[in-house]
Amino acid sequence: MTQRRAFGEGRPAHATPMRWGRLRPRLLDLFSCAGGAAMGYVRAGFVVDGVDIAERPNYPFPYHQGDALERLAALTLSGEIERYAFVHASPPCQDKCTLTVGTNRSQGWGGIHEDLVAPTRDLLDKTGLPYIIEQPNGRAEIRKDLSLCGEMFGLGVIRHRNFELGGWTAEQPAHVAHRGRVKGWRHGQYFDGPYVAAYGNGGGKPSIPELQAAMGITWTDVREELTEAIPPGYTEWIGRAFIASHVLGVAA
Ligand SMILES: C[S@@+](CC[C@H](N)C(=O)[O-])C[C@H]1O[C@@H](n2cnc3c(N)ncnc32)[C@H](O)[C@@H]1O
Repeated sequence: MTQRRAFGEGRPAHATPMRWGRLRPRLLDLFSCAGGAAMGYVRAGFVVDGVDIAERPNYPFPYHQGDALERLAALTLSGEIERYAFVHASPPCQDKCTLTVGTNRSQGWGGIHEDLVAPTRDLLDKTGLPYIIEQPNGRAEIRKDLSLCGEMFGLGVIRHRNFELGGWTAEQPAHVAHRGRVKGWRHGQYFDGPYVAAYGNGGGKPSIPELQAAMGITWTDVREELTEAIPPGYTEWIGRAFIASHVLGVAA
């Protein structure tokens, strides 16, 4: 007879399989916003706790309001980090994101957006836990261990997102050809297509119901939260890949 052993609560050395028995593994969701990423991990089998500096009443799981780096440092120092099996981080990236860098420069807008990627990675390395850092395409300095696209999950957004994996690996799925264009107005011309523009607030942008349907997110109707979110389909895939890579089949 075969028994399943899997990753569980506790502090793993990177990629060291652990037991969790019948408990669901716990994930710390840093920079959690309204929980696009969180929802995918819950669907994959995790229990999720969020951390966001802003008040986020739409976040559907327990969350701590405060600075993510301070919270991570405090959890590591106190040893409470040992409750977690995995950490996800989506540090703000507006100063490095392709969609905003060009526009901001051309308009002469400065922007005071901090780049929190490097300090986040430093603290994550100190936890000893496996982790993932997410960023959009652009100049953010992360390793692109995984790149995911909405078309891989049959979504109504393209939304390429890159992921740096710390202390574990996952196989990159094949990119799927886009079915057409992102619909909307660009430079005075209207383009039709199967995807909506899930960013910004300008003319020709999708309605809230269109955005919700395209991203697979129903629990927030706040445009900013929808346009910041990772579609849950991405993190459900990542969460399942993580759990599969840490489950041991052990002969009894
Ligand atoms: C790109 S969004 C994250 C999206 C989220 N992963 C999702 O899938 O819905 C970045 C979030 O970081 C939060 N944030 C910015 N600076 C922060 C800080 N120092 N500590 C905690 N949260 C912060 C913002 O309020 C915002 O909600």
